[in-house]
Amino acid sequence: MELLQLVAGVAVGALLVYQVLLRWNEIWYQWIVNKSLPLPPGTMGWPLIGENISFQKLGPDFIADHQRRYGNMFKTHLFGNPVVVCTDSDVNKYVLTSESKGILLGYPRTFSEILGKWSTFSLYGSEHKAMRGILISLVAGPALRERILPKIDEFMKSYLSNWSDKILDFEKKSDEKENLEIRKGKAEDYTINWDDYNSMSFTRAVVLEALRMASAGIGFLRKTTVDTKIKGYIIPKGWTLLLRSVETNKDTDTYAEPLKFNPWRWLESNLESHQYFMLFGGGERLCPAKEFGVLQISMFLHYLVTRYRWEEVGENKIVRFPHVEAPNGLYYRFRDC
Ligand code: HEM
Repeated sequence: MELLQLVAGVAVGALLVYQVLLRWNEIWYQWIVNKSLPLPPGTMGWPLIGENISFQKLGPDFIADHQRRYGNMFKTHLFGNPVVVCTDSDVNKYVLTSESKGILLGYPRTFSEILGKWSTFSLYGSEHKAMRGILISLVAGPALRERILPKIDEFMKSYLSNWSDKILDFEKKSDEKENLEIRKGKAEDYTINWDDYNSMSFTRAVVLEALRMASAGIGFLRKTTVDTKIKGYIIPKGWTLLLRSVETNKDTDTYAEPLKFNPWRWLESNLESHQYFMLFGGGERLCPAKEFGVLQISMFLHYLVTRYRWEEVGENKIVRFPHVEAPNGLYYRFRDC
């Protein structure tokens, strides 16, 4: 009988310790924060380890799983840091425009170490503004029109000569028509000018739609330098904010039928001016080279569709899309046209 009591006691004790350990981070953070507002929902995992194990195990499904359980703003603990993950367009827009309220960049220190102390990623306030001004004068406006466009034109023509394999597929038909229209009546060795580029509205729509569905990053990283109240929750000073663009780029309130590759949506309504258009970030850190990026991809597409026809070779196996993962590679045969 005594032995049974002892075993039961140890079991209850172990369970208690397990529960406390599992909630340790949450208890600890709520206690040190000690504010009237609650922390966002979510679990913060084991002491030190946080939720790293399930993050590793679930991979890209970690966010979807937690979003399902806790909603569009939840706390977790990753890589030794308390993190709040936001998949809400409204919150993300607010955070991106709140640098003056003490929400600064949250990228790892190595990031600005690699880019250097004069990179915009290392600067704030008036220094940041001045450096952005310099950057914009180099990659946007007249510099883009007069200096960069002819260089990209020349580069793409030589880059796309002698093509033998390629990975990208896109809304070929309409894009082709628009681009062939631009080529019509031009000399064999023509160059694209600014007016030509501005007339590529469908090509632009294809570029934006591809960026929307398969933007390269996982989102934007920010760090609070003061206790910050958002949507009834407190995000303590020193916490990381992971603003997910993967989800906001598929927000049904902004993009109807978001899982459909539909470039026409960009032509039908002025989505580029939508308050939740964040393909290039927002606020003080909006990509200064937005037009540079779109121009470069558009020129690539122009010369691709006007110079080549292509077909798949063999059976290409794609296991992940739109971030393409093809374990055996992707093979296409190109021919001149
Ligand atoms: C399609 C191509 C591109 C996309 C989708 C893109 C996207 C972005 C995004 C989302 C940000 C904001 C990051 C943040 O707030 O944390 C950003 C910032 C930035 N981008 Fe781009 N970008 C592109 C092309 C370029 C190119 C070609 C350059 C350089 C020539 C460039 C230079 C920068 C710089 C310097 C910043 C930081 C601005 C600041 O700190 O004020 N980007 N970009």
